Amino acid sequence: MATAKLPEGLVPAGSSLSFTEDTVPEALQKEHALGPGHWGVLHVFAGTVCFVDLATGTETEVTAPDHAVIQPETPHHLRLAGPVQCRIDFFRKPDDDAPMRTPGSFAEAEVRQSFARCEAAGDFAETFYTTFLNASPAIAPFFAQTEFGRQRKLLRDSVYLMVTHDVSDPEMRALLDKLGNLHSRAGRNIAPKLYELWLDSICATVKELDPEWSQTLEDHWRVRLRAGMQIIMAAY
Ligand code: HEM
Repeated sequence: MATAKLPEGLVPAGSSLSFTEDTVPEALQKEHALGPGHWGVLHVFAGTVCFVDLATGTETEVTAPDHAVIQPETPHHLRLAGPVQCRIDFFRKPDDDAPMRTPGSFAEAEVRQSFARCEAAGDFAETFYTTFLNASPAIAPFFAQTEFGRQRKLLRDSVYLMVTHDVSDPEMRALLDKLGNLHSRAGRNIAPKLYELWLDSICATVKELDPEWSQTLEDHWRVRLRAGMQIIMAAY
């Protein structure tokens, strides 16, 4: 298919998760645009994704195995019509002064503001642990010896850092490496399969506390926190 080519000299700026028709975030299926100086490459590995360019009104079917280049500041959305597997790789103009941006960064402001609304409405960590400890009988035994006053504060601070900092930020990275060790097989032995319950419980907390909750906002929370979560899980 004919789309624009990526300009030379761009640097990689991360990738989305690999999506299926069930997990493509709703935000990508509504009008949105990449920021100035930011490009994307939509890779379609299975099925067909329709790329709708709202600036020109052009609709381009991208059928596997193929890709389409997404230009900066072009309003667009994706449309699905069946099973797909796809991923978006991000690129940006090199800018030595700017910290490395990651895919979760597109939702930074929305998620940060949502977190602030949650904290205004109640105790984020307390609501989270009530949900998380009830999410599965497998969870509570890990916290049998836990001093929850301290634990709630540490959890709140780690979520705050994940919301406000990209995973490439040195402070963030140091925390993720520390948490990776603590949760690893040699530490608390937290099996990777338990992490979806963690993320679901965070999202349930947001839904309970944020009066402006929406499914799109939840998708933003998931993309933003998953990047850090995967680094902790990878240390297992
Ligand atoms: C991205 C996901 C997660 C984050 C950000 C996170 C965050 C934290 C933080 C900040 C601490 C305290 C660290 C410290 O003592 O210095 C902690 C401890 C702990 N976490 Fe997680 N956690 C995550 C996932 C999980 C999951 C899935 C489980 C499963 C049960 C879990 C179980 C524990 C346990 C057992 C402790 C130790 C509690 C204690 O000291 O008694 N965590 N976690």
